[in-house]
Amino acid sequence: MTTNAHEAHVSAQFGPQAAAYVASAVHASGEDLGQIAALAQALRPARALDLGCGGGHAGFQVAPHAGELVAYDLSADMLHAVAAEAGRRGLSNVVTQQGSVSALPFTSASFDFVVTRFSAHHWHDLDAGLCEARRVLRSGGTAIFADAVSPASPLLNTQLQSIELLRDPSHVRNYTAAEWTAALKNAGFEPRTPTLRRLRLEFASWVARMATLELHIQAIRSLQSAMPRDVADYFALEADGSFTFDTMTIEAQ
Ligand SMILES: C[S@@+](CC[C@H](N)C(=O)[O-])C[C@H]1O[C@@H](n2cnc3c(N)ncnc32)[C@H](O)[C@@H]1O
Repeated sequence: MTTNAHEAHVSAQFGPQAAAYVASAVHASGEDLGQIAALAQALRPARALDLGCGGGHAGFQVAPHAGELVAYDLSADMLHAVAAEAGRRGLSNVVTQQGSVSALPFTSASFDFVVTRFSAHHWHDLDAGLCEARRVLRSGGTAIFADAVSPASPLLNTQLQSIELLRDPSHVRNYTAAEWTAALKNAGFEPRTPTLRRLRLEFASWVARMATLELHIQAIRSLQSAMPRDVADYFALEADGSFTFDTMTIEAQ
């Protein structure tokens, strides 16, 4: 269930966009999905959990190799879309459950495998969510975390968070890879070295997917036009506002 005003905001932001997230080419592809699938194939978990499943793309990589895959999200609309898509894909072992990562409605050590992808930057409390992920993972289980990450440079960090917040007012933070590693250790995980990748975001579909207000689109474009040259170069800023940012996938025991 939704537990606070921020999470109500996230749910309201994502619910109407459920179909767009199932269809999103950015979310439906990527080397990180291959990494998640390969890990699940190697481990063949009896019970797996996808936290903040969104359109279900991470979970759909795991389900063919798992006994059961629980797709978990704040948004009921998102979960309805995931259930329908799982049916279309013939994934009969996908079950859905609604709630917040801050308080998982599962008994401790009840999963062999936990995945979360492109969700944690929306979490109200990253540490609480990671502690819950750790609690429900059995001893010796494996987790894999994928998300956008911020560069360590304060300048690049501020520029990225600013346009992210304008695009999606429910955005909380893209953490750096070092912050991710520290947070995972604090939660009791043993993280491996992160795999860093770059992801291009095509501007028009990026804002359409989040139904970004026209006023905010103009503000993003204004910020982009004022970006120092080195910032624009780092994010490979294109004439139409498309840009490329950093992502990270990190496996943990
Ligand atoms: C960008 S989508 C996730 C994409 C998806 N995991 C994929 O691989 O394509 C982000 C999702 O995280 C969910 N979410 C955000 N905060 C959450 C929280 N605190 N608890 C559960 N789900 C959350 C949102 O409702 C949304 O569906």
